[in-house]
Formats: sequence, C-alpha cells, structure tokens
Amino acid sequence: MLIRRDSDLDRLVGLLHGCEANDHDGAQLTESKPEAGSGDQDPGGPGQDEAGNDQGQHPGLEDQKAIRLPHGNKATYRAPSRRRFYAESMGRIYEATWGRAFAAMYDRSLAATEEAGLRAMRRELLAEAEGRTVDIGAGTGANLGLYGPRVTELTLVEPGSHMARRLRARVAQERLAADVVEAPAENLPFPDASVDTTVFTLVLCTVGDQGAALAEAARVLRPGGRMLFCEHVRSGDPGRARWQDRLERPWHFLAAGCHPNRDTAAAIRASALEIESLDEGRMPKAPPIARPLIRGVARRPA
Ligand SMILES: C[S@@+](CC[C@H](N)C(=O)[O-])C[C@H]1O[C@@H](n2cnc3c(N)ncnc32)[C@H](O)[C@@H]1O
Repeated sequence: MLIRRDSDLDRLVGLLHGCEANDHDGAQLTESKPEAGSGDQDPGGPGQDEAGNDQGQHPGLEDQKAIRLPHGNKATYRAPSRRRFYAESMGRIYEATWGRAFAAMYDRSLAATEEAGLRAMRRELLAEAEGRTVDIGAGTGANLGLYGPRVTELTLVEPGSHMARRLRARVAQERLAADVVEAPAENLPFPDASVDTTVFTLVLCTVGDQGAALAEAARVLRPGGRMLFCEHVRSGDPGRARWQDRLERPWHFLAAGCHPNRDTAAAIRASALEIESLDEGRMPKAPPIARPLIRGVARRPA
C-alpha cells in the first residue's frame, strides 16, 4: 500500500541517512504492508514499489533503501541520486560548520583592509547610488551607513542564513531603514525594471553563476538604471593569474565559495549592461591572490 510521506517516516529515514530525508528534492518514501502469507517478513529485505515491482528490478534507482517499520510494514526510500545526496549533505555540513564560522569572523577578518582603504572605496562608490537600491550579497552589512542621501529605499539581499541573521541583527540594532531578503543573485525576487541601483561588493567572486547574476541585475534595473561594483578579480599578470588558478580550490573552501581567479570585467562586458566607468586597483592589506580589484559603474541601456 502506498502512503504519503509523514514526519515520523522522514525522521526515521533521516536517522538512517544521517540527515533529514525531506530535505531532498524528488525523494520518495513509500510504505508497503506485508501480504498475509507472503512470507515477506525479511527485515531489511527488498520492498515493493507502487506498481508492485520488486526493487531489484530497477537498476537505475541506485539510491533506494528498504526500511523496516515498527508495526511490521516496510518503507522504501528513494533519493534522487547518490552523488547529489552526498553533495547536498556535504554542503549542509560545510554551511553549518565553516560557513557559520566564516560569517562570525567576517567583519574581524576584513577590519584591517577596511581601515586601510576599502571602506573609503566603498563610500566613494556608494555615493553613486540613488532611488530604489538593492545591495546583492550584502553579507554582514559592510556597506550600511555608507549610502548617500539620494537612496530612497534600500533592500539587502543575502542568501546565506548565517550572514542574513547577522545582517538582520545589525539592521535592527542600528535602527536602519532597510529590508533584508534571503535570495540568491541568480534569482532576484523583484519585478523587471523595478530598481534604480544594484550593488555588488565582493560578491561576483562567490555567486554560483556570474552570468545569471548579472542577467538578473540587468533585468531588475530600469532602463538607464546603474549597477555599482567593487570586486576582487583575476590578475592581469599571467604569472599571478596562474597562482590564482592553482590556489583556487583551497581558497574556495576557506573563503566560503570565493573564486579568486574570475575575470569579472569580461563577464560584465558580456552581460546586457554597458560599462560606464571601471578603475583597476588593489585591495589593501589583502593576500596577493585576492588583491587585484575593479571598481566601477555599469548601466542598463535606456
Ligand atoms: C565576501 S562576502 C561579501 C559581503 C559584502 N557584500 C561585503 O562587501 O562585505 C560574499 C557574500 O556573497 C554572498 N553570496 C554567496 N553566493 C551568493 C549568491 N548566489 N547570491 C547572492 N549572494 C551570494 C555570501 O553569502 C556572502 O555574504
């Protein structure tokens, strides 16, 4: 008999898999009662799917698992794929451990860089913001307090739960007029042409899909609206760029998903935005791998 997944079964599966079963898209849980006299009482033996087929007849479903339930029934759990299952589990473990620590340490780890000039660069750039402004990947709120008076409405977009918690606390503590929205840059929850200014500071190095993030920034901007950016990027020096490539993987792990070797200026040029100004410089007191910096303004064509 097929039953709907319920929270008790999910917990059981979670115990078996070491995580919450209902966190997995496309996962299925079915329960079957033993047929009288079927002899189908083998604990942990194969169950039946909805059509009554034996599990062993589905070589494609590698991730199904027969579960013995206390009342004598059996359940079959099918995860979408083993690789995805482990990738998602690792992602959650990373986010709950290092991701959390990274958010907690973020302000302190950047303090010397901010003091040595990054904050001044932010202030100069953010003076360009106006109207309805969306700060994408706002982190702990390093840009707060640096926006000029021409900003009429400020929305802070941040997909990371640990960062977002700190951001909300800061907004509340400093009684700032800003909304916090948990969403990724690749899928902004705003209508087309509804924003005057989008802001990326030290974010395009980390987003999963730079092209999609820039396409979204362009989509939500009104014609003539502007994107402000301040990003550390791939070095123009081939020798240093090679080191950025070599160290990408450990850096990516340590710096919460950052890719130090991205040619972000090329990505902006390839997007629907037109570069209005672009300065190349250095992030002060940053490790060489994250030092090359670009700052500037790109516009959605009117
Ligand atoms: C290095 S921090 C920068 C934070 C802040 N913008 C600043 O200038 O200090 C990178 C931020 O990008 C966020 N992020 C990562 N992936 C993202 C995505 N797909 N969309 C939007 N933000 C993302 C991270 O959660 C993190 O808060």
